[in-house]
Amino acid sequence: PRVLVLAGGLSYERDVSLRSGRRVLDALRSVGIEAEIRDADVTLLPAVQADPPDAAVIALHGATGEDGSLRGVLDLCGVPYVGCDARAARVAWDKPSAKAVLREVGIPTPDWVALPHDRFSELGAVAVLDRIVDRLGLPLMVKPAQGGSGLGAAVVREASALPAAMVGCFAYGSTALVERYVSGMDVAVSVVDLGEGPQALPAVEIVPRNGVYDYAARYTAGLTTWHSPARLAPEVAAEVARVALAAHTALGLRDLSRVDLIVDAAGRPHVLEVNVSPGMTETSLLPLAVQAAGLDLGRVLGAMVRRAAA
Ligand code: DAL
Ligand code: MG
Repeated sequence: PRVLVLAGGLSYERDVSLRSGRRVLDALRSVGIEAEIRDADVTLLPAVQADPPDAAVIALHGATGEDGSLRGVLDLCGVPYVGCDARAARVAWDKPSAKAVLREVGIPTPDWVALPHDRFSELGAVAVLDRIVDRLGLPLMVKPAQGGSGLGAAVVREASALPAAMVGCFAYGSTALVERYVSGMDVAVSVVDLGEGPQALPAVEIVPRNGVYDYAARYTAGLTTWHSPARLAPEVAAEVARVALAAHTALGLRDLSRVDLIVDAAGRPHVLEVNVSPGMTETSLLPLAVQAAGLDLGRVLGAMVRRAAA
């Protein structure tokens, strides 16, 4: 098949996406698939209409790449793609919506409040923040309701640090997700479907060198250590895999995703979010998990591309 790898775009994660796109391109070519990379700009639609590829791989992160809108455009053009459909992406991308779905089906996710910026200003910041602290306690995790790569996210340990965290968060999005902070082991579970239904790859444990898995820690070689598989007791690892797979399924995802979780001191997993367009860079977690599982990224993506194009 002839494959278009979509990368770049105009989100805050443009640079990450370009790195993911190159990795995907190399992986597909390594298994003999004819692939080219393309920025998802305004010229995309006419170009795709004039010369439709057999399938597309969306290596875009943030905004249009993950919120379903680009998937809608591809649907309109009749171009099949790897990954979930537009509707599922829209729900998974919006963290409060995704968490509501997870909670509905009994998948543990930390308590949260979603706070749109207008509401925040309207009610008076201090009153709102006091109420949130009363309800969720401390510490808290603040992040944009829609976003990725740790941009605009902060751990808040004291109420006095909350206003600054909110300002940092609103710089990246119009709605904030304020979550109860669960301490424990940070793990990511990649879910892939090689043709026999979704399977959870072994969890990858994330240990950022300075304690915070922020943008720099994610994308600078040497700033984070991974343990793959995660250092979990077998029964805990099995439960983590079960919960990750349940989250993937509950959100109606397809082909691949990455479920980010915290495993608390009692060994209980809490789902933080599910990524429909997981990073594919040299320091990203899904490629690491694929490698740790003894699989090859080109073969994994190749299987999905062939299925999409069939
Ligand atoms: N948002 C980044 C790309 C990730 O989830 O890997
Ligand atoms: Mg994410």
